[in-house]
Amino acid sequence: KMRVLLLLGLVAFALADITRFEGEKVLRLKPVLEEHVTLIKQLAKSIEVDFWSPESSELVSIDIDVDIRVPAMYLDMVHTFLQQNDIEHEVLIEDLQSAVDGQADNKPSPRAHSYTKYNNWDKIQSWIASVSSSNSNLISKQVIGNTYQGRPMTVLKLGKKSSSTKPAIFMDCGIHAREWISTAFCQWFVKEALSTYGSDSQMTSLLDQMDVFVLPVFNIDGYDYTHKSNRMWRKTRSRRSGSSCIGTDPNRNFNAGWCTTGASSNPCSETFCGFKPESEIEVKNVADFIRRNKSIIKAYITIHSYSQLLLFPYSYTYALAADHRELLKVAEGASAALRSLYGTRYTSGPGAATIYPAAGGSDDWAYDLGVKYSYTFELRDTGRYGFLLPESQIKPTCEETMLAVKYIAAYVQKNL
Ligand code: ARG
Ligand code: ZN
Repeated sequence: KMRVLLLLGLVAFALADITRFEGEKVLRLKPVLEEHVTLIKQLAKSIEVDFWSPESSELVSIDIDVDIRVPAMYLDMVHTFLQQNDIEHEVLIEDLQSAVDGQADNKPSPRAHSYTKYNNWDKIQSWIASVSSSNSNLISKQVIGNTYQGRPMTVLKLGKKSSSTKPAIFMDCGIHAREWISTAFCQWFVKEALSTYGSDSQMTSLLDQMDVFVLPVFNIDGYDYTHKSNRMWRKTRSRRSGSSCIGTDPNRNFNAGWCTTGASSNPCSETFCGFKPESEIEVKNVADFIRRNKSIIKAYITIHSYSQLLLFPYSYTYALAADHRELLKVAEGASAALRSLYGTRYTSGPGAATIYPAAGGSDDWAYDLGVKYSYTFELRDTGRYGFLLPESQIKPTCEETMLAVKYIAAYVQKNL
């Protein structure tokens, strides 16, 4: 009897092992003096704050908004600190747990997969199986490897079957675990492609002439962890002897100026670059796939959130890409298309100059490999909800993003 009770207790404990965020706030700081920047970095060293934007204290610079999540126990101290040092700030999220709870819409939760909800990995996995088997004329799937924890990474290939090899576009979502709107977009894209092929002339011509490879969730282990344990997780879930900290930032782990700037060699950092390029099996699987298909892949699109940006190389250097003018022109066209639907404003430009230098990103790596049209989207919003974008915004966000992605695809198709 004792043993049964003990076991039940353990099970209850395991089920309840989910991080809560009562009383935590997200603050936006506005450093306008070099002194402010130094102070913010010092603050980050002395207490544990989670950087939402930019993604780590090393990336803080003058005149950019700094969004940080502050645990309840430090709030008084942080407020005093900001006041005493005259650092302008505002509260973006009053109570993080309420924002987490408020993210899901209140419609009776269908147990099934839904395009307007944030589906967990189990649902996405069965969706991958059903969507590919019920549309076998337009879609096929292939496993490109397993994640660190052994989950299969499946790439969906969308396009009309052809006997000759077609040029292709590669798109991934969910490199960062907590950016749930990103993952939602890949599913939306697949749905739209399948349902508008044959009626929408642009989609029809795209899928007739090209294939689109979609990786619905890049960092599956991390994504699963955000659903089960910690909503704010960003990195992979890999462990290595020598450090008790878990995970590497997959978007610092690609072999592009690896770990030279805007990344950390500290395994505990949110922007840890890993112990070598492609140390993360997820990164290696994707890089291997793109290398294998290098001759046919004409565009690389990667979906993140938040900030409403459309970025292109370079991020590991301020140097302009050889194709800078063309990449900028296409980005501006895509942003205009996106804006035409609901007026959502995007900023476009090369990563380093537009936000901050950060090496090891997938976009720079793909570009240097020879994939000319390489773009990083940072979807909605600009910080009101940040990573906790309510489900009610999935539909409008995905609709407008479709216009931008289709604009890029149409341009690529025209310039094959
Ligand atoms: N917020 C993204 C990140 O930090 C931006 C990626 C831009 N590209 C890059 N190679 N840093 O991962
Ligand atoms: Zn991201």
